[in-house]
Amino acid sequence: MKKALITGGAGFIGSHLVDRLIEDGFSVVVVDNLSTGDKKNLNPKAKFYKLDICSPKLVDVFKKEKPEYVFHLAAQIDVRKSVEDPISSASTNILGSLNLLECSRVFNIKKFIFTSTGGAIYGDANIIPTPESYTEEPLSPYGIEKLSIDKYLNYYYNIFKLSYISLRLGNVYGSRQNSKGEAGVVAIFCDNMLQGKKPILYGSGKNTRDFVFVADVVNALFLAMKSSKTGVYNIGTGKETNINQILKNLKMLIDPKCKEIREQAKKGEQKRSCLDNRKAKRDLGWKPKYDLEKGLEETVNCFKNEG
Ligand SMILES: NC(=O)c1ccc[n+]([C@@H]2O[C@H](COP(=O)([O-])OP(=O)(O)OC[C@H]3O[C@@H](n4cnc5c(N)ncnc54)[C@H](O)[C@@H]3O)[C@@H](O)[C@H]2O)c1
Repeated sequence: MKKALITGGAGFIGSHLVDRLIEDGFSVVVVDNLSTGDKKNLNPKAKFYKLDICSPKLVDVFKKEKPEYVFHLAAQIDVRKSVEDPISSASTNILGSLNLLECSRVFNIKKFIFTSTGGAIYGDANIIPTPESYTEEPLSPYGIEKLSIDKYLNYYYNIFKLSYISLRLGNVYGSRQNSKGEAGVVAIFCDNMLQGKKPILYGSGKNTRDFVFVADVVNALFLAMKSSKTGVYNIGTGKETNINQILKNLKMLIDPKCKEIREQAKKGEQKRSCLDNRKAKRDLGWKPKYDLEKGLEETVNCFKNEG
């Protein structure tokens, strides 16, 4: 049985990946400290270690489990928190990732797959959709931390031949996304509307993002594991959608009469983000199967069922 270790497997994207790998016959080991994740997301067939990726005990998990593939999704994902406390954010996102990379090197794994970010790495780009070759100009510690790991991965590949793929994701949405944080506008709006609360929209709502459905991201992670390629790949739809449009679609699906609250834009908010996905299409054979309508409909149905 092929074995994969997934960090962050109790979280939003990670738990969907766990399900997909188990469905495909993998033996799955999850490392998660449950800081934002939840055990109720976790597939009962996965072996679970409640552990911080920064812990020196991580090496014992590798010693015992000997995974072939490592998917690294655990992270401090809140951009604003990374601004407020860059040291704590870097300790998870840089030092924790390095801890995992060192274990992966020592135990000679087959492939390391990382979830990086598109929007936060390219900043307010003037080429839209933005290709991987665009100058990286992160506007937050979170973006800098993700970019650092992309660079470390390249170093581990060049010096130790550790094969990797880093996926620079757009704005991922779907079931199980945590609506408590500041990330995940779809989850936040869904949750508010389903509870009969007014969603809050900051600024004009004209800011754009590249919204990609979680099943498409899981498929990209799976194809990245199978691929013989190494490097960074954008994973997005290549389409810009503004927040007003998201709100409009969700109102149609949940409550057409719902009235939002409009508040002042938050400082430093990125204006546009949209990823050129042609490299992933060409090298990984990946393409998004869900358009926004289909993805949002599925998300709303799941949120309704999850209560
Ligand atoms: N959701 C998005 O739109 C998006 C976009 C770009 C990149 N990403 C990246 O994808 C990955 C998964 O994000 P998500 O949206 O599923 O977030 P999430 O918060 O649902 O998942 C992160 C998981 O990691 C765990 N975790 C956090 N810190 C940890 C630590 N120190 N040790 C062990 N476990 C820890 C959490 O408990 C959680 O289960 C992250 O690396 C994130 O940066 C997400």
